[in-house]
Amino acid sequence: MAYLVSLFPPAMVSSNRMGPIGTLLFGVLTAVELIIISGVHGLAGLVVPGSQALTTTPHPRDSALLRLGDLRRGVSWKHRARPSPPCSGFFCSVHPSPSLAPSRPTQHPEPPTKTGTFRMVSEEEQALRAKLEHLTVKDHGPVFGPCAKLPDHTVQKAKDELDETDEKRVSSVKELRAMVKEKSDIDALTKGVQVTFGDKPDSLLLRFIRARKYNVTRSYELMKGEFPYVRFRQQYPELFENLTPEAVRSTIEAGYPGILPTRDKHGRVVLLFNIENWDYEEITFDEILRAYCVILEKLLENEETQINGFCIIENFKGFSMQQASGIKPTELKKMVDMLQDSFPARFKAVHFIHQPWYFTTTFNTAKPLMKSKLLDRISIHGEELENYFKEFDANILPAEFEGKAPSYDGKAVALKLFGSEDTAL
Ligand SMILES: *[C@@H]1O[C@H](CO)[C@@H](O)[C@H](O)[C@H]1NC(C)=O
Repeated sequence: MAYLVSLFPPAMVSSNRMGPIGTLLFGVLTAVELIIISGVHGLAGLVVPGSQALTTTPHPRDSALLRLGDLRRGVSWKHRARPSPPCSGFFCSVHPSPSLAPSRPTQHPEPPTKTGTFRMVSEEEQALRAKLEHLTVKDHGPVFGPCAKLPDHTVQKAKDELDETDEKRVSSVKELRAMVKEKSDIDALTKGVQVTFGDKPDSLLLRFIRARKYNVTRSYELMKGEFPYVRFRQQYPELFENLTPEAVRSTIEAGYPGILPTRDKHGRVVLLFNIENWDYEEITFDEILRAYCVILEKLLENEETQINGFCIIENFKGFSMQQASGIKPTELKKMVDMLQDSFPARFKAVHFIHQPWYFTTTFNTAKPLMKSKLLDRISIHGEELENYFKEFDANILPAEFEGKAPSYDGKAVALKLFGSEDTAL
C-alpha cells in the first residue's frame, strides 16, 4: 500500500533535502516523464496529478458479467424457437449493462455436453444474480470471526466467479492433496509444501483453491510462494521471527493498517491506510508488513472473505517527501511480493485518495514492480471523490476517510480481531 507507490528513483531519494532549484527540476522531470509515459501507454495508463483516476479499470465484476453475458446468450438462443414470453426470467431480473453490449462475439461457447446436461438457469439462480447486482453493505456477514453461513448470493458468486460447486469443492481438495504428496520429492520447495500443508485440514487447502479459481495447478504454485510459509519464509525470515498476535497488536492498535468493521457492498473486507501521521521510524515498514501477515491470515479463516476478497483504501493526504524517502526499494519489493501471488487472498481493488501531485512520479516508478492485473485494480482519485463514494458507502467509512462513521478506533479493532486474551498464532 503506502509503500507500494513510494519508490523514488535513487536521485529522488534525497529529495527532502532539495532546494528550490531541485524542486523546480523535479517538476520538469516529472512533466517530461508524464509525457513519455502517456505516449507509451496511451490513455490506458495515463495518470495526471490531482486528476481523477487512471487506467481504464474494468469493473471488478466484469469477469462475472461476461459469464452472465454468455449465459444470457444461451438463454436467448433457447428462446428463439418460441415467441418470447413477455419479460420472464433472466432478462427481466438483471438490468442491462453497457459492458454487456449485445453483440459481443461468443468467445467461450460452453458446449451443452460439458456437464452432461444443458445449462439451465433456474429461477433461483436468476434471483440471486439479480441480487448480486444490487448488494448493499447489509447483505453480508461480520468481518471478524468465522462465517456462520455463507449468504446464498455469495454461494452463487463463488459459482459464477470461481467455478465452485459442491462436487468440485470435494474433488479439487482431493486433487490438490494428491499433488502435494506426489511432488514432494522434486526439490526443497516442494518438500516444504508437503511438510507445511501435508497434514493441514481441507479448509486451509480450499483457501488456496478459491484464491486461484479452482485451478489446482495454480493453487499449488500459490502454496509454494505463500507468504507465511514456504518460499517467503525462506526469503524474508525477518518478517516471521516471533510473529504472534501480541507482537503486532500495538501496530494494529495504532491503525497500521486499519480494518473496517463492516464489509463493503461487494462483501469485501476493507483495509485502511492513513499515511498522514505515519512515523516510519516509530513503526517500521517491516512491522506493518508483519501486521498485514497476521491480519490476512486471521481474516482468511472466514469463507466470505475467501470468496469476496479484500480492497484497500490509501489516504495519501499529507504524504511527505520525507516519508517517501524513508522507504527502501527492497521494502517495496517485499510489499509487492506480498500483494502478488503470495497470499491466498483476492485483492480486488486499491483506492488512493488525496495524493499530492508528486505521487505521480512515485507511482510510475513503482509500476514496473506490479503485474497488469494489480495495476488494473488501482484507482487514483485525488480530490475528486465521486467515484470513490460510488464504490464505498459513506456510512461505513470513518471520518478520516471522508466518511460519516466515527473516527477509526484501532484498539477496538484489535479487540475484535484477537479478543482480550493474548493468543498464540
Ligand atoms: C491451470 O493453470 C495452468 C497454469 O497457468 C494452465 O496451464 C492450465 O491450462 C490451467 N488449467 C485449467 C483447467 O484452466
